Amino acid sequence: MTSQALDEIKIGGLGSSRKRVEDDRFIRGRGNYTDDITLPGMLHMEILRSPLPHAIIKSIDTSKAWEIPGVHLVLTGEMMATRNLAWMPTLSYDTQAVLATDKVRFQGQEVACVIADDPYIAKDACEAIEVDYEPLPPIVNPWQGLAEGAPVIRDDKTGQSDNVVYNWEVGDKAGTDRAFEQADAISKLELHYPRSHPSPIECCGSIADFNRATSKLTVYMTTQAPHIIRAAVAMVAELPEHMIRIISPDIGGGFGNKVPVYPGYVCSILASILLERPVKWIEDKTGNLISTGFARDIYLKGEMALRRDGKILGVRMHTDADHGAFFSDAQPSKFKIGLMHSAFATYDIPAAHLTARGVYTNKAPGGVAYRCSFRVTEAMFFQERMIQAAADDLGMDQAAFRRMNFVRDDDFPHRTPFGFLTDSGQYAKCLDVGLAAIDYDNFRKEQAEARKRGRLLGLGISTMTEPLGAGNSREYDILGIKMFDSAELKVHMTGKALLRTGAKTQGQGHETTWAQIVAHELGIPADDVTVEEGDTDTAPFGMGTYASRSTPVAGAAVAMVSRKIRAKARKLAAHLLEVSEEDIEWELGRFYVRSSPSRGVTIQECAMAAYSNMPDGMEPGLENTAYYDPPNLTWPFAVYIVTVEVDPETGVWDVLRMVAVDDCGVRINPMIVEGQIMGGLTEAYAMSSMQFITFDADGNCVGSNYMDYLLPTAWETPGYELHSEVVTPCPHHPIGAKGIGECAAVGGPAAFVNAVIDALSGTGVRNIDMPVLPDRVWEALTYRRDVSGAPPVRQD
Ligand code: CDP
Repeated sequence: MTSQALDEIKIGGLGSSRKRVEDDRFIRGRGNYTDDITLPGMLHMEILRSPLPHAIIKSIDTSKAWEIPGVHLVLTGEMMATRNLAWMPTLSYDTQAVLATDKVRFQGQEVACVIADDPYIAKDACEAIEVDYEPLPPIVNPWQGLAEGAPVIRDDKTGQSDNVVYNWEVGDKAGTDRAFEQADAISKLELHYPRSHPSPIECCGSIADFNRATSKLTVYMTTQAPHIIRAAVAMVAELPEHMIRIISPDIGGGFGNKVPVYPGYVCSILASILLERPVKWIEDKTGNLISTGFARDIYLKGEMALRRDGKILGVRMHTDADHGAFFSDAQPSKFKIGLMHSAFATYDIPAAHLTARGVYTNKAPGGVAYRCSFRVTEAMFFQERMIQAAADDLGMDQAAFRRMNFVRDDDFPHRTPFGFLTDSGQYAKCLDVGLAAIDYDNFRKEQAEARKRGRLLGLGISTMTEPLGAGNSREYDILGIKMFDSAELKVHMTGKALLRTGAKTQGQGHETTWAQIVAHELGIPADDVTVEEGDTDTAPFGMGTYASRSTPVAGAAVAMVSRKIRAKARKLAAHLLEVSEEDIEWELGRFYVRSSPSRGVTIQECAMAAYSNMPDGMEPGLENTAYYDPPNLTWPFAVYIVTVEVDPETGVWDVLRMVAVDDCGVRINPMIVEGQIMGGLTEAYAMSSMQFITFDADGNCVGSNYMDYLLPTAWETPGYELHSEVVTPCPHHPIGAKGIGECAAVGGPAAFVNAVIDALSGTGVRNIDMPVLPDRVWEALTYRRDVSGAPPVRQD
């Protein structure tokens, strides 16, 4: 490094806790969300939803709605069917009703739409539509769906004679059977991960604007994956792809909720084509909570084969997933139950076998990857609850049992029991940091002392490693579209730059962090780099942002395109310095002559030369694009430790401390990473302690508003102690980064539940399913029994 080298932190490069540039407009109330956009001549659409979960539609009478002044169009399934649009394909090779024709299959399903001068007229007109329903028995859990003689929900599908969506398996059945034959002990646990909803503050919405004169369709919409939506619209509406422009403006949170294609998008597009005017649809909160993609709702029967000394010999898992009425998860096509088979990736286990069954029920589509890499949240929750139960069954210490079975640092690359290849990690070190931080040994003593005085203290540990960054394209695709991502970088002649990627930020701060990668690679100050995402006419093709894939894939593409730019800039530098390329050295932001370090040119000088003084034969300009197909997923690791106190009189439990040790490889922006972890832990706390959205026996959605489905405020949210001292760079990512966005939401829930169960140790209670509400804890303590199943539809 010469004395002229730049200070990377000062220019906002890797490791700089640069303030989020996007916050400037958000704090000033100048964000540009879909609902902020008004187009000339714009009309408004509202949706009529089914009040019943399961019913035959005998007739729909729209005549009174048409008569209301200001109504321009009333759409029904019958009208959609004439254009072959009553049904659409889902991202999991199923079909989904756009507007119901034959039956309604969940409460809140879209039945008709009204397009009017304003949303109030449209809403009133929806109420004037008369639908004659003949109710059918509702199915609200997989067991009802699988029962003999259960009504077939998807009788629209040829050959579908029951409610099974799929049966799928993975792993080594024979090896696992052998492990169980050799076991000294078998630990069993049955769990339910309840239905939850990502519930972003901004609901879904779209503004479709079809221009007959140009034949171009522009859609502003709340999507995390604009290019996938463009492909879906091209296929569903049979419009030419180059005449479709999807613009995803600022998004008020996605968390997986804004990946699927929803009927409202399709209806607003058709309405705009028919009316030749822009049509805006903005969903209300209840509409969002009852009809858009739910997550989880999955039951586990788990078994672990154990050696007396604590070694895990094998694992068996069977899951039953409640998919609602349509199988519309966005997940890599070949894995029916997402990446559930990432379970036990943390541990060195010789054999494992997973069977998974999906069931249709009369609920809105489930299985959306809510802050989760396709079912990894469930996988890690089941893993860590089973680990705790197994340690308890063996009478072993929680931490010692985990440490004994961890994949060791020198075991990488490691083949997980279900066949993934993990490449790096320091699991035991992370655990040590966490145990030291929580003062583990002292807490155990304190816990024993407190017990003598009738106080119930508990400590829960959870670890997780998450497969983040789908693709590679060999193994991961959605509807056959290979999973990779992209970045395009244009360096202007003054050395300022414009970067575009195929990802789409929804609050994660890409505008800040991508510029930091460019700063790191090129020495262009991050403040000189504008980042744009979300417009399919300008951004390079990409698969969007979910499953914490942005940093592993699009972030890698940003590094790679910067390196392409640097390679061209090197040629320009050689030309300017009148030496050969081989004699040139690079330091941050500057090329210099190896033999004479004071003779150099900055990247900005190279940029100017690209437009004004390039060597003969060189293509002018300094622009490039990189498509990045990662060789593997990235595997961040984390240890979360929670201590709680449970009130034996009321079942209320309070978090005493929460320690988080996250190893996500190289941190681009430590402040943003910490924000991601805190947000994820808060969602984990919400899911484990209070979030309750379920269905009663009649199929009514209970919890379809924020009075019932609780979001923790600052008042309830516990304090977090974050640790960043363990850094294991990803060996294949160009800057050594691993994803982080979801880790805490994935690994956090088990830590909270494990802590409460630990507080109840000695009572015989092995499980309380989430949400661990005080009345459930009280019931468990009072009757000394497990409280399991999906509330309130319970067997007891
Ligand atoms: O795909 P998504 O953006 O949701 O998740 P991510 O790739 O894990 O990134 C979340 C945010 O954290 C982004 O702004 C990343 O650039 C940032 N991040 C980071 O600064 N360092 C990492 N090692 C990973 C992510």
